[in-house]
Amino acid sequence: MKIAVIGAGNVGGTLAQRIVEANFADVVLVDIAAGFAAGKSLDLLDARPLLGTEYGIVGTNDFAQIAGADIVVITAGLPRQPGMTREDLLKKNAGIVGEVVDAVKRYAPQALLLLVTNPLDVMTAYALKRSGFSPERVIGMGGVLDSARFANLVAEALRVPPAQVQAMVIGAHGQEMIPLTRLCTVGGVPLPDLLSKEQIAAIAKRTVERGAEIVNLLGKGSAFYAPSAAAFRMVKIMATDQATIVPACAFVDGAYGLHKACIGVPVLLSGSGVEKIIELALDKKELKQLQAAADTVRAALEQL
Ligand code: APR
Repeated sequence: MKIAVIGAGNVGGTLAQRIVEANFADVVLVDIAAGFAAGKSLDLLDARPLLGTEYGIVGTNDFAQIAGADIVVITAGLPRQPGMTREDLLKKNAGIVGEVVDAVKRYAPQALLLLVTNPLDVMTAYALKRSGFSPERVIGMGGVLDSARFANLVAEALRVPPAQVQAMVIGAHGQEMIPLTRLCTVGGVPLPDLLSKEQIAAIAKRTVERGAEIVNLLGKGSAFYAPSAAAFRMVKIMATDQATIVPACAFVDGAYGLHKACIGVPVLLSGSGVEKIIELALDKKELKQLQAAADTVRAALEQL
């Protein structure tokens, strides 16, 4: 198994570390900044004797090195800087993602493509369009991260181990995410039987704002431990072909009353990518929110 990680920054570098430490695939780490990926890869290689791992990692600024990759994860992009509008960020990151997708088409045309760069849902839609890949091979990481954040906050509120919480967040990765509070369970018990409406609403709100909460505290940069862990989980599912239901940004055409949209929904993810879109029985309000989120993504894509 060969996994290419594009962008060796906080998310990409930490993702590469997680893959190498899990010892199941070779990694190629690519960054436009000459030496940056190469330096990180040497550092990661030096850790192998200490960790007992043996898979290789190559760091480079040469996209030809991704040749034959089974999975390509795109984390390359700029974070939003002061004074930059969302539209500026959208254009800049679309430029970067577009270049990367062209390189993937050229050197690794068989790969599964996992998008991490923000704005996530628009970048996924753009990568799908630009690559011409079949929709099951182009996937966005958003829902797994948002669901983990939601689950963590529920676990803290109830003082139970985080792994006891089953949570699902759909919609856009951003303000228009939809934490499905009524479907959350803890040890098999529905969340509404464990916490008050107000408590649940507060957790859902904090989940939506979690990225901003972290950005404000960090002072520079944005979250990367949980984002890289979420990307790692998706990479592992695909690399090991262990079909698993996760929320992810995928191409939806028909389900949820959506027409050719890229948005976060539950999918059956496996070694072939998105095997199936799972259509949840949403209530009217949730369905409206999902459709509105899909419309926002479509409008941004049209802008591009
Ligand atoms: N090709 C390859 N790498 C690139 C390119 C490019 N065309 N353009 C930029 N990069 C690299 C940068 O050199 C940098 O090392 O992408 C890396 C991004 O790393 P960080 O700035 O540390 O950003 P990070 O925190 O990793 O976030 C990356 O993931 O979660 C999202 O919102 C986040 O869109 C952002 C992305």
